[in-house]
Amino acid sequence: MESPDPSSALPSLAVGTGPAPPAIEDLEFPYCLYAWACGTEEEADFLHYGLWKDGTESGKQAQENLALLVRSLIPDGVERILDSGCGLGRTTADLTRDGYSVVGISPDEKLMELARARFGRHLPFRTVRFEDYADTDAFDLVLFQESSNYIGLRTLLRHSRELLRPRGYLLLCDEVRYGVKGVLAFHRRDLLVKLAGCLGFRLLSQRDITREVMPTRAWVADALAGNREEIIRRFRPRREDVERELDQFLEDWDRHTAAFESGHFGYEVFLFQWSGTPLSRLRCALSLAPAALGAAGRRFRRG
Ligand SMILES: C[S@@+](CC[C@H](N)C(=O)[O-])C[C@H]1O[C@@H](n2cnc3c(N)ncnc32)[C@H](O)[C@@H]1O
Repeated sequence: MESPDPSSALPSLAVGTGPAPPAIEDLEFPYCLYAWACGTEEEADFLHYGLWKDGTESGKQAQENLALLVRSLIPDGVERILDSGCGLGRTTADLTRDGYSVVGISPDEKLMELARARFGRHLPFRTVRFEDYADTDAFDLVLFQESSNYIGLRTLLRHSRELLRPRGYLLLCDEVRYGVKGVLAFHRRDLLVKLAGCLGFRLLSQRDITREVMPTRAWVADALAGNREEIIRRFRPRREDVERELDQFLEDWDRHTAAFESGHFGYEVFLFQWSGTPLSRLRCALSLAPAALGAAGRRFRRG
């Protein structure tokens, strides 16, 4: 990994007309620190992991690799896409450039201001939670790239169904957890797949890319821990609490890294298609039972 150059750490933003966009240090915690870490080599474009392959030379390139992988999974025939949790706006902009009709949504006003300033005020960026988003036209595909864990699983699946046309797609690329013990930060992978099945989503493809994204953990931790003084100096005028935030970020980050290393967490990409026929209550209960019983069994044994 290249060693970050702190002097180039803050993005020089391409600004259109209108008020000045927020600086990275104005973003909500933890996006401010994550964006800073992703922008140490060059201006941050994404707030997602990188996909590290043989020959990947930088975190920036690794993030592009993951964005390309996700784009490559969009099925033929898709025209209208909801980019739910669009972060800094780059994916919405890329997909629009590729000819899709895209709406990018996120509830974080400052992220959206930044996205609009960088990628044009003409793009349909909406400041709204996925849970509250409604549209008169249906989408062919709903994309969650590292934004699914902010939303309850049942709500995510049900509301995606409401927003999709029949036989529309759900593309989800995110951290998942495999067990019931320990840190509960992410959706349980088995419940995600089973509940999706219950609600009428057919799993078309799935890929476990944990191993390829794992170097991102060290990339981000090194960027933040290795530039501590620089970050504090730059952030403090606007964020009095930056030291505590940095400590908290790194502590959570290390805890999660340990959970990845122990196989408790992973990172997967899923493509579902809404078939339009949910399972009956009985079949759904039977399909969810082993996962629920597994959880109860483990709790019982621990107790
Ligand atoms: C880790 S960032 C990922 C950003 C982007 N998808 C990317 O790949 O760079 C998480 C995104 O999810 C958004 N988010 C958080 N809660 C959300 C919600 N309830 N509905 C929609 N988006 C949400 C955040 O505002 C942010 O844009």
